[in-house]
Amino acid sequence: MFWTTLLLLHCVLVLFLILSNRSRSKKEPPLDKGIIPWLGHALEFGRDASKFLTRMKLKHGDIFTVRVAGHYVTVLLDPDSYDAVLQDSVTLDFTRYAQVLMQRIFSLSLPNHNNSTEKALMMRHFQGDSLTCLNSVMEGNLQALLQSETIQDQKNWKQDGLFNFCYSLLFRAGYLTLFGAEQSNHYTDSSAVYKEFRKFDSLLTKMARNMLNPEEKRIAGSVRQQLWSLLSAALPGEKTEDTWLQNYLQHLKDEAVDEEMQKRAMLLQLWATQGNVGPAAFWLLGFLLINPEAMNAVKKEFDSLLLQADSPQGLPFDKLQNTPVFDSVLNETLRLTAAPFITREVLHSKTLCMADGREYDIRKGDRMCLFPYISPQMDPEIHEEPEKFKYDRFLNSNGSEKREFYKGGRRLKYYTMPWGAGKNKCVGQQFAISSIKQLLLMVLTRLDLELCDPASTMPKGNPSRYGFGVLQPEGDMEIRYKLRCTL
Ligand code: HEM
Ligand SMILES: *[C@@H]1O[C@H](CO)[C@@H](O)[C@H](O)[C@H]1NC(C)=O
Ligand SMILES: *[C@@H]1O[C@H](CO)[C@@H](O)[C@H](O)[C@H]1NC(C)=O
Ligand SMILES: *[C@@H]1O[C@H](CO)[C@@H](O)[C@H](O)[C@H]1NC(C)=O
Ligand SMILES: *[C@@H]1O[C@H](CO)[C@@H](O)[C@H](O)[C@H]1NC(C)=O
Repeated sequence: MFWTTLLLLHCVLVLFLILSNRSRSKKEPPLDKGIIPWLGHALEFGRDASKFLTRMKLKHGDIFTVRVAGHYVTVLLDPDSYDAVLQDSVTLDFTRYAQVLMQRIFSLSLPNHNNSTEKALMMRHFQGDSLTCLNSVMEGNLQALLQSETIQDQKNWKQDGLFNFCYSLLFRAGYLTLFGAEQSNHYTDSSAVYKEFRKFDSLLTKMARNMLNPEEKRIAGSVRQQLWSLLSAALPGEKTEDTWLQNYLQHLKDEAVDEEMQKRAMLLQLWATQGNVGPAAFWLLGFLLINPEAMNAVKKEFDSLLLQADSPQGLPFDKLQNTPVFDSVLNETLRLTAAPFITREVLHSKTLCMADGREYDIRKGDRMCLFPYISPQMDPEIHEEPEKFKYDRFLNSNGSEKREFYKGGRRLKYYTMPWGAGKNKCVGQQFAISSIKQLLLMVLTRLDLELCDPASTMPKGNPSRYGFGVLQPEGDMEIRYKLRCTL
């Protein structure tokens, strides 16, 4: 018995060494396995992916393969070559890695799921005419929430952290817009969901990396349970309306997805639709509050549009389509704070052709990862003083949108990529932009809002969130606000 066990252990060890002893062939990108067996660079990667990948870029150039927790990930950091990955949705698959994360974060598996139908549904409800309708429901919800926040006490200042202020308003308004069934107690309901969601959100990156300690695992489990039940309580039983959520649920039912998985899918959708908008609005308002020149430019733009509108009371949102200054401010904000990985699973070995003619073999079973945050977004060759917020970075001197950016003398197609690109580009982009614009308009026209400490600076982004969409701050900025006297 003893000898058999020993022999078995030996075999496992040898097998392990063989498997982990991958070496680089001539046509493959530089390989950096790190010194820890199996784990490779996982710890450094998880702690601060941006710092780690910048270090690897200096060492190996703009394409290299690293070992991360048993996986080999080929990282590409040349924006001119991104299309080689984004345009190939046949060998480079978006869905599989998404399914891995779905399982880890949401305990959700949808094996025979027709994602094409799901995508078509989203495009139908978040674009075109439906979008106009969503925008106006969103506007109503935002106003109602702001009203109930401030109504009891119109005269006195209220104090809050800016991050919580933005996230809570946008999350709850978005939740009511997309998930709000006909219920009497909207306000408390959406607050309870927000409160639980923030706990969930704070554990999200660790869940995605399988790095929860036992205590965190327990909390994550119970928060998830809590959210599932809150969400399923708000679900309509029968399909009664032609909304995105009801159609999505019907789609799951048609695919014979059971009720348990249905409610888990609700949490996935809640995260996908609400997880980035609030944090993005926080950075935008924060940058405006500490850059008076930028704030004045935006105010001036909004004021001149409001003047053209007939009613001073109503928010003429449809009049606010042409806003190059706001657009530039938002693009600049997201350039600095949107840091998603764009990850694809390699289904068949292939040769990747870079823009400058270099060719690399990529192995089946590995992952490809683009990290536009390092380049183009923070690349000093493309954006001068990339760490600085310049509200007019995306404007020409005559005030029109700037579209010409260069690297090494070549004009770039991708000079900032907060929404991804190609076939899997963000479906909710327009809705997200409108929501942020509405919040800003409301803050500017309805509230007096200021920093408690005028000398505040922007907090740093939490480095463990690189790779998961819009960053979140470490710490917050204290603000006070009150309803401005209306006519
Ligand atoms: C500031 C807010 C947001 C940012 C920065 C953002 C960013 C992104 C990015 C980078 C991707 C591409 C992922 C990839 O290619 O691997 C993506 C995909 C997606 N986003 Fe967003 N997003 C935001 C808000 C929203 C909202 C409000 C919705 C829904 C209403 C939404 C729905 C989606 C969906 C469904 C996809 C997947 C598209 C597909 O399957 O092809 N997003 N988003
Ligand atoms: C749906 O998933 C399949 C395989 O899982 C993939 O080939 C296809 O491209 C996906 N479709 C969309 C629209 O993402
Ligand atoms: C998914 O649905 C679309 C139509 O919505 C259909 O064309 C396609 O064949 C379906 N795919 C699978 C794998 O069932
Ligand atoms: C900002 O970015 C969006 C999407 O990337 C683009 O459509 C828009 O034209 C940009 N606006 C400006 C002023 O750069
Ligand atoms: C504004 O300037 C840009 C380049 O600086 C130019 O391409 C564009 O045509 C100008 N637009 C107008 C309306 O003058």
